[in-house]
Amino acid sequence: MLPYIRQDLARFSAYKPHPASDTASPVATVFDRLDTNESPYDLPVELKQKLAWTYEQVIETNRYPDGGHEELKRAIAEYVNESDQALSITSSNISVGNGSDELIRSLLIATCLGGNGSILVANPTFSMYGILAQTLGINVVTVGRNQDFEIDLDAAQSAITQQNPPIKAIFVVHPNSPTANALTDKELTWLQTISEDILIVIDEAYFEFSQNTLVKELQTRPNWVIMRTFSKAFRLAAMRVGYCIAHPELISVLEKVRLPYNLPSFSIAGALLAMQERNLLLKSIPETINERNNLKAALAQHSQLKVWNSAANFIYLQPKINNTAKIDNVLTSFSEEFRNMGTLVRQTGGGLRITVGTPQENAHTLMRMKVVLENIKQSL
Ligand SMILES: Cc1ncc(COP(=O)(O)O)c(C=O)c1O
Repeated sequence: MLPYIRQDLARFSAYKPHPASDTASPVATVFDRLDTNESPYDLPVELKQKLAWTYEQVIETNRYPDGGHEELKRAIAEYVNESDQALSITSSNISVGNGSDELIRSLLIATCLGGNGSILVANPTFSMYGILAQTLGINVVTVGRNQDFEIDLDAAQSAITQQNPPIKAIFVVHPNSPTANALTDKELTWLQTISEDILIVIDEAYFEFSQNTLVKELQTRPNWVIMRTFSKAFRLAAMRVGYCIAHPELISVLEKVRLPYNLPSFSIAGALLAMQERNLLLKSIPETINERNNLKAALAQHSQLKVWNSAANFIYLQPKINNTAKIDNVLTSFSEEFRNMGTLVRQTGGGLRITVGTPQENAHTLMRMKVVLENIKQSL
């Protein structure tokens, strides 16, 4: 360990990039990549051509990007307002980040850094809240979930009253990843009772697949922030653009703590184009929802699997096994068998998360699941 480095960092390992950046294998052509919840569809060629034109004719690579993001924020505000006529979100309610990951880090810096507070998460959930908090030396308090992955609200409530440093931010995903369930009325009611001294972060990364947003809550709740991303429904994972919607006072804090030129010009151009062409890009959503429902129903036919309903673009399942102590080994066998046949799936939170892909990829998933279950039946 280098003597000048914080000792607590020795406990962490670097994020494993996906696909592995040290292999030369042509991942795209070999695998169905169903482990990171991206859209299975690239940008249409005509949009790539428009972007290429912007790159050639408009973007000056010797100049810094637009560090204020005003045009993009206006476009995002217009899109957000489309979900409900009562909304009047403006650019003053929006901050954009280098992926939602950057926004998560900014929120952590703004609320909990320097011993100011702890964060609360309910596992299993999106791992980056905990990972980013720990790299900043922020205390992470975890509570569990029940069989349907609803948050253990008693444990959460007692954590809020007991923690030192006090809970200053609660992170929830709506619908949750990896378990794909939307917040229930009970969970929502609990969140609404929480004091304005605590920031409530609602991560709506999968909003376009759930069509269920809590943006309206922002009108009366200055301590709530909604996060979204261009990495899923808008097919721009490669460009790293996320945004959040909140009260202007919180937005102005996020603008203070972010890096000045956090988005490359090309990413700004990509996100702007996605907003302009949203109707075209979102045309694939009904297909994904339909495929998701069919995939869920077909997987649930296997008596050896417990498969949960999904409000997102992925399915969460667990094999039913006699010896629960063996679950991790069994899940590893599942993902290795899938990988050997050409499908990447994600082993996480004591189960498997499988992204909804193209109809052809989903047909592979079903075919391969039959083979896997046959191959590992002895271990179940
Ligand atoms: C719940 C959730 N939030 C945020 C992200 C990250 O989004 P971005 O690519 O914008 O950093 C993901 C990515 O998988 C996610 O599942």
